[in-house]
Amino acid sequence: MTSATRHETSRTLLMDKIRAVLGPGAVLENPAEIQGYCTDARRKFHAPALCVCKPRDTAEVAALVKLLHAHGWPMLPQGGNTSLCGGATPDDRLPVIVSTERLNKLRAVDPFGLTVAADAGCTIAQLQAAAAAEGLLYPVSLGSEGSCQLGGTIATNAGGTAVLRYGTTRANTLGLEVVLPDGRVLDMMRALHKDTAGYDLKQLFIGAEGTLGIVTGAVMRLYPATPAIGMCWLRIAGPAEALELLQLFRRHAGRSLTAFELMNAQQLANVLDHGSHAAPVEGREGWHLMVELADTASADLDTLMVGILEQAFEAGLVLDGSIAQNLTQAETMWAIRHSVTESNARVGVSITSDTAVPVARVPEFIARATDAAMQVHPGILVTVVGHVGDGNIHFIALFAHDLWAALPDRQAVETQVRNAVNDIAIALGGTFSAEHGVGQTMTGLMERYKTGPELDLMRALKRCIDPDGLMNRDRVIGPAA
Ligand code: FAD
Ligand code: LAC
Ligand code: ZN
Repeated sequence: MTSATRHETSRTLLMDKIRAVLGPGAVLENPAEIQGYCTDARRKFHAPALCVCKPRDTAEVAALVKLLHAHGWPMLPQGGNTSLCGGATPDDRLPVIVSTERLNKLRAVDPFGLTVAADAGCTIAQLQAAAAAEGLLYPVSLGSEGSCQLGGTIATNAGGTAVLRYGTTRANTLGLEVVLPDGRVLDMMRALHKDTAGYDLKQLFIGAEGTLGIVTGAVMRLYPATPAIGMCWLRIAGPAEALELLQLFRRHAGRSLTAFELMNAQQLANVLDHGSHAAPVEGREGWHLMVELADTASADLDTLMVGILEQAFEAGLVLDGSIAQNLTQAETMWAIRHSVTESNARVGVSITSDTAVPVARVPEFIARATDAAMQVHPGILVTVVGHVGDGNIHFIALFAHDLWAALPDRQAVETQVRNAVNDIAIALGGTFSAEHGVGQTMTGLMERYKTGPELDLMRALKRCIDPDGLMNRDRVIGPAA
């Protein structure tokens, strides 16, 4: 028997065993059927997979992982496949994609402890709806919330638009259930607000992007619902005014301040010119700020909002503004904010950064990043959108499709832009990955910016938990030097 035939035979044997473990209908093999799982949301990455497996519960995930571990076969956990850094698409090792889409059961809502326990494959929208049905709130909110899943948001430690009030996904994770790379189940599904018994192991798996195990369930924090909403859209001169307004809103709205989102005129134009949304204010020049206040039903947010805006106009911090008069207008503002990624994809090819800097350094970061990116290529459309209230700015170098197609060395230009923008964030005490993760697009930046001891420790943890390197190998920390 030749080695190629031996390889083929062991593959056939493995496929037979996978089908036996999961039963009919849970394993997709046909290349046409698995195409969508092998390509990312923005169609930037594509590689084949051996098959796509859709286990129904934690026991099936564990049995599957045990089998793959015994065969030394690589695996890729996949949630909603909305990663913006190629994290959820296969590499060239023909992994088995372990999709969590059928792990979609809510396990329990506890209105006293303010927690929800759920399978990892529940979408964020599903969690939000389940909480709302109990008069509660699941606070993590992001443009992809209709498709991204609890497990994926935990694996990337997703942020979104409410971090300034409720924190990141990590801050909202109380308990976790993980299938380790050898198939053992780590059950840490404790719905506790306090627990100092030993190392807090769940933290290792939050933000690990599937390199240390597959998250199959989690216990998340809930909050009292905030049905009173006040929203406004402000046209302002620039990021410095945004920070002055942030202080004004914090001073007067306190904990009601829930979202504070900035975009430049180019970003608004990308959305309005490539969609059907009504303009939120007259005029586009300058910068745009979207502010949301939210509170329990008894709060009078309209009066509060009007009072704050009067002061803002008097202080000359606002050029133009509008307050949402009803839920529909508020939803339109949110729809504009949440459609930035898809609108930008229509305009051209985005090299998206995910920087965070200390909030006070945001204006300096944006000014310096703009200069640096324009020096790499003066033809880019500088597009800026971000969660300015927590310092996380997506500085996007957008190349019109024809400009991108004409570039002689696209990879080199992409690297130059990423380095130019991220060097500035790092110099200002920031990070190159605030909420999207590292995936495959940013492993080089880990080498560039992380210190030797940090990388050594991360690689030691990887060797300890996944000694055979079967889960998302080389993602996040890259290949060991
Ligand atoms: P996937 O994309 O499927 O996977 C992401 C990574 O996690 C991969 O490495 C994968 O292997 C791993 N993984 C997935 N599930 C598991 C699991 N159960 N166990 C272990 N590892 C797993 N992100 C933000 O933070 N803030 C935003 O505001 C934001 N806005 C977005 C808007 C749009 C329109 C889009 C398309 C994306 C946006 N994102 C945002 C990025 C993306 O939605 C998040 O990174 C999300 O957390 C990914 O969840 P997912 O279920 O799609 O995970
Ligand atoms: C957003 C994504 C890009 O903030 O994180 O819209
Ligand atoms: Zn974001």
